[in-house]
Amino acid sequence: MKKIAIGLLGLGNVGSGVVKLLSDNADAIESRLGARVEVKRILVREVDKPRLVEVDPALVTREVSDLLHDPDIKIVLELIGGDDPAREYVLGAFAAGKHVVTANKLLLATHADQLLDAAEQKNVDLFYEASVCGGVPVLRALREGLASDRIDQLLGIVNGTYNYILTKMTDERRAFDEVLREAQAQGYAEADPALDVDGHDAHHKLAILVALSFGTRAPLGSIYREGIRHIAPVDIQYADRFGYKIKPLVIARDIDGRIEARVHPTLIPKRWLLASVDGVFNAVYVSSYALGHSMYYGRGAGMMPTAVAVVSDIIEICRDILAHAPGTASARMRRSPRTQRPFHDIGDLASRYYFRFSVLDRPGVLAQIAGVLGEHAISISEVVQEGKREGGERPVTVVVTTHMARERNVQSALAQINRLASVVERTRLLRILES
Ligand SMILES: NC(=O)c1ccc[n+]([C@@H]2O[C@H](COP(=O)([O-])OP(=O)(O)OC[C@H]3O[C@@H](n4cnc5c(N)ncnc54)[C@H](OP(=O)(O)O)[C@@H]3O)[C@@H](O)[C@H]2O)c1
Repeated sequence: MKKIAIGLLGLGNVGSGVVKLLSDNADAIESRLGARVEVKRILVREVDKPRLVEVDPALVTREVSDLLHDPDIKIVLELIGGDDPAREYVLGAFAAGKHVVTANKLLLATHADQLLDAAEQKNVDLFYEASVCGGVPVLRALREGLASDRIDQLLGIVNGTYNYILTKMTDERRAFDEVLREAQAQGYAEADPALDVDGHDAHHKLAILVALSFGTRAPLGSIYREGIRHIAPVDIQYADRFGYKIKPLVIARDIDGRIEARVHPTLIPKRWLLASVDGVFNAVYVSSYALGHSMYYGRGAGMMPTAVAVVSDIIEICRDILAHAPGTASARMRRSPRTQRPFHDIGDLASRYYFRFSVLDRPGVLAQIAGVLGEHAISISEVVQEGKREGGERPVTVVVTTHMARERNVQSALAQINRLASVVERTRLLRILES
């Protein structure tokens, strides 16, 4: 039986999952592939650290050259995360003529061109299925399943932590800070939650999705990003009253050749399938010219789900190696190599909006707000004003939803409204997506 040797950079959650999956399913993988995949070396920072899986200590090293200079190792798995040294090691692997599988969205979102160019020069492959939605094979579906189709729109929930916190806030009517603390204690959120709750992780994943779906470079600066820290339980309750759920969405659309890409919490109708994607689950909903609507759903993170995606990449590369056609896959990873399509600025967005005003309960305040909105061509769909409070100078909540309006106008109207003497808190804005 043929053997294909691989080297692991990292033996944390995902690395351990890969070792376990390759061992638990060794026979099935071997029979499907016609070769045995063998872990030959593993790079870590701390050699003596207790591990989630048992590995032969002789395989573990702190020297990256032990992997990169080993001629038997054909595929290197980058499961370290972050920027350097991960990027440096991936480039080193390409220079040594090795194929690379990575789960690192930051690397792909920020250095895709450099990495794909380096892989192409050496005629080797770069695969990164686990970088978006963990075990859900969404990149493979976009790249292979929809290879003949034209994608018009993509909506997704691609960060489990972001979704878990909003789900808990919704189901248990609890505040963001409290739910975040609990998620950190239970290991669902990092000690530094910014990557998740400020939307950076989803931002990186959307850049990868946009590049594959629309065949363009997708610089992070072209993609609007907003997190969930500003959402209060009261917003979730009002959304519910209007028939919506607030979901941490990534949205990308091809509007007459120009790409609109944004990451922000969004009010979506409760009846939508995406509205029931809760907890740590991920989903991507795609609208394409020929297939119509399709949705990809499952566990977006975790040791074993993520390992499934990494090992599926290993198998794809092994098949190319065994067919004596290595390097062909890198070309497949880009649909349109060096194209830079134009992107919409967030100011161009046409959307419906939800505003929550905190105002002093004085006569004429609502008329003043409506007046400013009207001056900016923003027409009101619904208004809910909290009942009058004892002692007229206490703030009350006024919630407004609008018909379609232009984001540029909305920002300018809210800036003016926030300066009114009777407005006591910065107005909260959320976008509504309905069709
Ligand atoms: N966890 C998930 O569910 C998930 C899902 C999708 C994608 N990903 C991506 O998968 C990658 C790995 O994530 P993870 O959760 O497995 O991370 P992790 O648990 O923190 O593991 C990282 C591993 O890399 C090693 N490492 C870190 N810096 C190193 C360095 N400079 N030199 C050598 N080894 C180094 C660590 O060694 P020590 O153990 O010795 O410290 C550790 O074994 C990341 O890109 C992440 O974004 C993760």
